[in-house]
Amino acid sequence: MLTLAAVLEPEDIARIRAGLAQGPWRDGRRTAGPAARKVKANAQADVDNPRIAALARFVRQALERNEVFAAYARPARWSTLMFNRYGPGETYGMHMDDAVMGPEGARVRTDLSFTLFLSDPATYEGGELVVEGVEGERAVKLPAGGLVVYPTGALHRVEPVASGERLAAVGWIQSLVRRADQREILFDLARVRTALADGEARLLLDKASGNLVRMWAET
Ligand code: NI
Repeated sequence: MLTLAAVLEPEDIARIRAGLAQGPWRDGRRTAGPAARKVKANAQADVDNPRIAALARFVRQALERNEVFAAYARPARWSTLMFNRYGPGETYGMHMDDAVMGPEGARVRTDLSFTLFLSDPATYEGGELVVEGVEGERAVKLPAGGLVVYPTGALHRVEPVASGERLAAVGWIQSLVRRADQREILFDLARVRTALADGEARLLLDKASGNLVRMWAET
């Protein structure tokens, strides 16, 4: 699991929140599979609306520009990015996300999920994203602009919101590198690279990293 503190600037978050406040919003159950639908109670901004679609593109571009995110996730394909809203009493119980999303011709294998928090945590109670791993549960609630990326294969839920409003953007990524252990090696090498000055060591590291990507990438 990767968390990043400030993927968006405060003025961008304010602009997105103002845009979302205009709606339109739809029942979140429309985009859930049969099992997840039973435990899902939230609202989702209508991505068919051109204004909402433009906000989704803006968020995706901000993620694409983020070097740490790119080195960790190595996105090859993206699902449609969605905005969701949880008001008092709303929740998304423990569930699995679909393994494959999108229409024929634009299918995305969901390797990684992300949640970009858009509300100030002081303005709502509850609403933690809880991800279940073999080592137990991990609850995440980040400042507005904070991003968490986690394996889509994990069971997860959103705790009921007790008061206030929780806004977030969510999406899924098919990574160029399917296996999490291989992605981790590449991410470690990318972090080592930032500690090296230009020179032979960095060149050799780039060579090794590039050749590992050649070995593991699915295009
Ligand atoms: Ni989910």
